[in-house]
Amino acid sequence: MNIITVDNYSEMSKTAAQLVEQQLSENRESVLGLATGSTPLGLYEQMIKGHKERGISYQKVQTLNLDEYRGPGKTHPNSYYTFMCEKLFNQLDIPLENVHLPDGIAQPVEEECRRYEALFDRIGPPHLQILGMGTNGHIGFNEPGTSEHSLTHCVKLEESTRANNARFFTSAEEVPTHAITLGIASILKSGKILLLASGQKKAKAVKRLLDQEISEAFPASFLWKHPNVTLIVDREAYQLV
Ligand code: GLP
Repeated sequence: MNIITVDNYSEMSKTAAQLVEQQLSENRESVLGLATGSTPLGLYEQMIKGHKERGISYQKVQTLNLDEYRGPGKTHPNSYYTFMCEKLFNQLDIPLENVHLPDGIAQPVEEECRRYEALFDRIGPPHLQILGMGTNGHIGFNEPGTSEHSLTHCVKLEESTRANNARFFTSAEEVPTHAITLGIASILKSGKILLLASGQKKAKAVKRLLDQEISEAFPASFLWKHPNVTLIVDREAYQLV
């Protein structure tokens, strides 16, 4: 794992954006794996800036998101599809047919999981996968206890994950109880992985990751099995290392 330590969130986001732009300059038809949550928002702002100010084009880029809540449909304000459109896609020149997320309302869910994994393999796997990390070490929505062999599946969210994500909803009860997520094995298919961690809240998780003990109890630890992972971490998140 290549570890880049930076001063703060803004530096983390700018460094990540440079790596995304480098990927696009190598291949303008790159497939990007994208994440939700607060962590990548600064990176997305930088990508939008790069597009608007320096004409970086996403016209030929395809994106595959890690996960989607079960319950709210695509156009619902709380879906990750809406989140991604608002925070990124609508401000780039990427055609919406090039962006892919699991369908949160498709039935039966097992079939949707198979469809998304097949799509992930057909369009991807991503050349570059962006990842954040939950305070419990989850990546995507792979909660502690998830097998390293897991593919796209439906998960019951931990209460701590629902509480952490409640800030995006008007009330805590509104946070869905389930989600569809790429599995650990799916994520590890990506060519390169860029893991971002910022702030004191992530310090324990970063310390645990860097202890290098690979275990289902801490899903992000499986990233040690991938040959090309870069962690960009800011000073606050690195303080216990
Ligand atoms: C969510 C997402 C993850 C994300 C994690 C961390 O549950 N499904 O992909 O990495 O939370 O979120 P944040 O970046 O807001 O700390």
